[in-house]
Amino acid sequence: MITHNVANAINEQIQREEYSSRLYLQMATWCEVKGFPGAAAFLYKQAEEERMHMLKFVHYLNDREGETLLKPVQQPPHQFESLKNLFEEVLKHEQYISASINEIYHITLQEKDYTTGNTLQWFINEQIEEESTMRSILDKIRLAGDINSGGLFHIDKELDALAAARPDFGLPIA
Ligand code: FEO
Repeated sequence: MITHNVANAINEQIQREEYSSRLYLQMATWCEVKGFPGAAAFLYKQAEEERMHMLKFVHYLNDREGETLLKPVQQPPHQFESLKNLFEEVLKHEQYISASINEIYHITLQEKDYTTGNTLQWFINEQIEEESTMRSILDKIRLAGDINSGGLFHIDKELDALAAARPDFGLPIA
């Protein structure tokens, strides 16, 4: 049985992961329309990955006899100045998610819920990887120069390859 405070914190994280999925889906559509098919493919997969994170929390809460309560999810932004601006927002969002998971970990320690703390370790490691991936994409975009279309073309190809190497979670990707 999970405590009210921990269950509440996990329900808030479920909402954040669902928002993350919608944010990256919206960003993917921007990329697709603006002529960045590789970035779009990468973000469509990232949107599915965030949904997988959300489901991990849902199943965990159910397994611990907590009550999963889906909360309203706000509309994500849909306009971006550039590909660089978009990935700056991605990195900022992942840093926010990392901080929120650390905060839940803190709550589990206060509540002496070491089982949930142990489960959160997977997410803590995942966030290290996600932040690192997004930072390296952003570094490449900055190196290419945001308006250097030749450089961005090559980065888009790299993102396409990165997307192809990721699991597709059984869902069709454009
Ligand atoms: Fe589920 Fe990218 O954090």
